[in-house]
Amino acid sequence: MTIDTTYDKWLLEAKKSLAKISSTPELDIRWIGEHCQSLKDPQACMKDLICRRLKGEPVAYLIKERGFFKHIFKTHPDVLIPRPETEQLLETALDWAKEHTASTNKVPTFLDIGCGSGCLGISLSKELGSLVHCIDISDSAIALTKENIENLKASKVSFEKLDAASLNPKQLPFKVDAVVTNPPYIAEDDPVDPFVKKYEPHLALYGGGPLGLDLFSKWIEPILSLEPLAVFIETSPTQWSALSKLLSEHFESVEMIRDYSGQERILKVLSKK
Ligand SMILES: C[S@@+](CC[C@H](N)C(=O)[O-])C[C@H]1O[C@@H](n2cnc3c(N)ncnc32)[C@H](O)[C@@H]1O
Repeated sequence: MTIDTTYDKWLLEAKKSLAKISSTPELDIRWIGEHCQSLKDPQACMKDLICRRLKGEPVAYLIKERGFFKHIFKTHPDVLIPRPETEQLLETALDWAKEHTASTNKVPTFLDIGCGSGCLGISLSKELGSLVHCIDISDSAIALTKENIENLKASKVSFEKLDAASLNPKQLPFKVDAVVTNPPYIAEDDPVDPFVKKYEPHLALYGGGPLGLDLFSKWIEPILSLEPLAVFIETSPTQWSALSKLLSEHFESVEMIRDYSGQERILKVLSKK
């Protein structure tokens, strides 16, 4: 596609081309348009970003933000883009936390493992007023979580660069009541959208091994050492059953919850206490 015709003609052509690579071409153009509107040269911005979008770059990286639950989170190409299915993980944890607060008169504290943009931990804290500690092994993720904490004034959220496999409860800033985590869980042979594979950080995507469970398996002992009342985990249709079996050995109940598209996606794990 050439861009030396008039702008309107070019935009019309771009929309048609975008429909070949995106399932939401109208929305893509609207979001990019809103982002470019506030800049000095909106048309140049549109041309630049739409050309990049046509090569498959995610809109959330182009416009440097993504809405998640009730807030807008900054994004970074080295950090996973918050996903709609993760909002369901958040809602499951929120429902449990509200019940817990109602029955104990105490707002539970949370640990967000593999916090990425901080979307889970920050949303939990903003909604419940709870203390949340966010950890991630990636420098970029921790820097982005810090930025989102500041932008969203999430004053009860702390953060730390840490490998979840070496988590030590004594080193955390408070006693953790519950854990929320969306770990890297894609397995070796799982089909992955080529644009996700090309643009999003593999450290955030792949869990290792034939079931994608190698990484998370190393997190189980450290999570147990926290003696949490509840653990909320995002998982996949191919691994939830194996993971559920593994966790059942240590916890009172493991419930699988499907996402809005009917896929097995969330494990709600409650302790023996
Ligand atoms: C699927 S992303 C989830 C990001 C964010 N919580 C979300 O839901 O959008 C997984 C995150 O786990 C982090 N991670 C990978 N290995 C880790 C480890 N050993 N310890 C802590 N975090 C890790 C990645 O850097 C990535 O940010």
